[in-house]
Amino acid sequence: MMAILNRKASLIVLAVNFAVVVILLVFHSHTSYHEAQLHLCPTVPVGVDDTWINDIKETESMSADEIYRYLHWTNSTSCKTAVDFGFWILNDGGVIAPDGHKAVCLDQSISPVFNNCLVYSFGINNQWTFDEDMAEFGCQVYSFDPSMNVGNHDRSERIHFYDFGLDGKNRLHPTTGWKMRTASTIYQMLSSQHGATTLVDVLKMDIEFSEWNAIPEMLQSGFLADKVKQLAVEIHFNPDDPLEAFHHRVQILRNLEATSQNQAGGFVRFSSRPNPWLKRPLKVLGGREDYIGLELAWYNSKYY
Ligand SMILES: *[C@@H]1O[C@H](CO)[C@@H](O)[C@H](O)[C@H]1NC(C)=O
Repeated sequence: MMAILNRKASLIVLAVNFAVVVILLVFHSHTSYHEAQLHLCPTVPVGVDDTWINDIKETESMSADEIYRYLHWTNSTSCKTAVDFGFWILNDGGVIAPDGHKAVCLDQSISPVFNNCLVYSFGINNQWTFDEDMAEFGCQVYSFDPSMNVGNHDRSERIHFYDFGLDGKNRLHPTTGWKMRTASTIYQMLSSQHGATTLVDVLKMDIEFSEWNAIPEMLQSGFLADKVKQLAVEIHFNPDDPLEAFHHRVQILRNLEATSQNQAGGFVRFSSRPNPWLKRPLKVLGGREDYIGLELAWYNSKYY
């Protein structure tokens, strides 16, 4: 009796499965048909509108909403093959998502060359997945973090660790005493190892607000324009930052992206993604939620 029931049950399940497969097949051929039709239509892709970005106003008159629209925006045509290097799946406080990764553009002219590339990675916090993936790609990886209480060492054949922090000047950090250095100083120090003219294929930064000192210095000194092909940064804000703090930082990003002014960086954005763990009610948005951490990535238009 049991066996017969089970057999009946399995038959019903089979029948249902079959029906689902048939429905899916019909649906699929249907969508393919529509897609094929769509591809023949010479229309602008739906939902892509980059034009507003070219005429946004002066930074100091941007509202908080305009600032967040600008931060979340990315150039939809700039990179055809953006790939994430180095994620793991983090489950923290109920949010389960990839973490630790950076977008790298693999379009031919700008891509790191397999087995012949150079990476600077600032801010490790004992999470090596990005560095390890880049090493796997065959890059020499220089990894920096002053907060780990570990001295300079080679982690592997291709990963070289230094206990420096990236900053806008060479100094000891005023509260922690960490050894802070500019990018140019670090590059000079390492030039006997990686060559005095080698380009940095990817410069990664996750340095908890020091990016706002480091990026202007790297723009001013010409280091970014001359030496860096791709830049990937986690940018940071505080939930109660005043609008002026946002203006100051957005201006830094706009200088990085500018193409026609003094100290213009000429960097083209190809990725912007919020950090899913850093969604907070924000003072500038009257308590509405948005992100205090976003992952942005650019390439240097000079080398594209
Ligand atoms: C977007 O990317 C294209 C390259 O595909 C570039 O020509 C254009 O200047 C970029 N626009 C902005 C606003 O970054």
